[in-house]
Amino acid sequence: MTQIFDVVVIGAGPGGYVAAIRCAQLGLKTACIDEWKNSKGNASLGGTCLNVGCIPSKALLESSENYERVANKYSAHGITVEGLSVDIPVMISRKEKIVEQFTRGIAMLFKKNKVTSIHGRGRIVKEKKSEGSWVICIQRDNKKEEMVKAKYVIIATGSMPRPFPSVLIDNKHILDNQGALALNKVPQRLGIIGAGVIGLEMASVWRRLGSEVTLLEAMPDFLSSVDEQLAKEARKIFTKELGLNIKTGVKVIKIKSIKDAVRVNYLDTNNEQKELEIDKLIISVGRIPNSANLGAESVGLQIDDGGYIKVDAHCRTNLIDMYAIGDVVRGPMLAHKASEEGVAVAEEIAGKNVNQMKHFSAVNLDTIPWVIYTSPEIAWVGKTEQELVTSGIKYKVGQFPFMANGRARALSEAKGFIKVLADADTDRILGVHMIGPYVSEIISEAVVAIEFSASSEDIARIVHAHPSLSEVLHEATLAVDKRALHI
Ligand code: FAD
Ligand code: NAI
Repeated sequence: MTQIFDVVVIGAGPGGYVAAIRCAQLGLKTACIDEWKNSKGNASLGGTCLNVGCIPSKALLESSENYERVANKYSAHGITVEGLSVDIPVMISRKEKIVEQFTRGIAMLFKKNKVTSIHGRGRIVKEKKSEGSWVICIQRDNKKEEMVKAKYVIIATGSMPRPFPSVLIDNKHILDNQGALALNKVPQRLGIIGAGVIGLEMASVWRRLGSEVTLLEAMPDFLSSVDEQLAKEARKIFTKELGLNIKTGVKVIKIKSIKDAVRVNYLDTNNEQKELEIDKLIISVGRIPNSANLGAESVGLQIDDGGYIKVDAHCRTNLIDMYAIGDVVRGPMLAHKASEEGVAVAEEIAGKNVNQMKHFSAVNLDTIPWVIYTSPEIAWVGKTEQELVTSGIKYKVGQFPFMANGRARALSEAKGFIKVLADADTDRILGVHMIGPYVSEIISEAVVAIEFSASSEDIARIVHAHPSLSEVLHEATLAVDKRALHI
């Protein structure tokens, strides 16, 4: 018999699983369909983020950073270790355990919240007529197709790596993010195409463990969407201290697997032909939305030229009672953005469905924090200095270095700075940019400030604990008014 739900969510990444839990919390009968299988062939909830994205990458970043600290940094504390070694299979299996714990955790959360979890590929097959239901077909391996019905559909099908023309990812020598997170030995020579977020995080992991790493980036500028001053500082540190070989403004012409290696031919920034031979090559040139084979055409769901499902500020598609969230729609491809959209949509549906009070149901895309988990970390929220210049907004700048902060010096992690951009007339904070230790944690204070329309003076007048890294943000806001104290 066809099961009938209030809401069917397609995709159980951080967008879909959070939307499903929130719908269930609000009393909606909810199912979540997901097709992900792990390397053992078992269903594994959590999407890209938990299986091959945020969580496993951070696990390896932490392991490799610990190794790097012992190898190169602890001697400054008077701690030396003889015979240091690293066991990559142990490191990888620790990462896999963390992934398994979290993906199982989602299954438990589904059970606890009474979300029906369905493994398989979902496709929308029948249009909803006014008060009727959407019909979704579920395909499972070697099993008969099944149908479910729902009043509301939330599409949260995420994204996948952007393919590189004429190159086959074998995850042996030519790798995507999945392969880059599963190497069982340190490659002596590692090449990476695309010096974006994945490229830099993976470069950090394998460089710290001993690889010679070369990044080939098409754009002439390094980290072109990051505040220019931060990007310059990052490039200097990553090149001089970490030892990454970063080549910008290159055009990759050919990638060829040769015996136990890969050869890349490219034009450098002077248009000269160059060749790079490496043991492994990671391709990380962005991600594309997963909107194919969803049945979109058959029900008239609008998709733009980039493959993103078209939505308004409330994640409503062009179709009645159908929503789309996360990587498959416009906005940054980030887990926290996907989850917040999931909550917003669940609350909008619950508000409509049981006539509860209307909930706030739009996510503010201008206050989404970004973090790149390199060492030092990079984090930002709001406008960059170049965006303010381009849009002709007059601004003031306050900047403070970690070098002058007691906690950072005690940690021996005193590189980088925090920069605050505030409106020249109103003092309202427009953007905050950070490079330094644990800025992934400090950025939240800046998000709260911008979300609450705070002025730089508001932060400057708040007491910050001493000694703490957050004092750098405090001093940077004081610096907006040229009254920093410790410099
Ligand atoms: P996804 O997580 O992609 O989940 C979509 C799910 O839908 C998948 O399980 C997929 O199998 C399933 N699906 C697709 N089509 C169907 C269908 N027709 N039927 C059934 N199921 C379907 N973001 C951060 O915020 N912080 C980070 O540190 C971070 N690190 C990252 C590191 C890497 C290496 C990568 C690749 C990404 C990282 N991201 C990070 C990005 C983050 O993973 C994504 O933004 C996030 O996972 C998007 O969530 P989502 O729910 O939209 O989609
Ligand atoms: P990205 O967009 O961050 O970087 C891709 C890079 O590849 C860009 O710099 C681009 O100019 C370059 N590029 C594109 N085509 C190229 C070519 N032909 N030759 C050379 N360079 C080329 O995308 P990435 O790193 O693949 O990550 C995808 C997304 O996943 C990120 O944008 C982000 O949304 C998410 N992510 C987030 C993380 C975090 O929050 N810490 C970590 C990892 C991924």
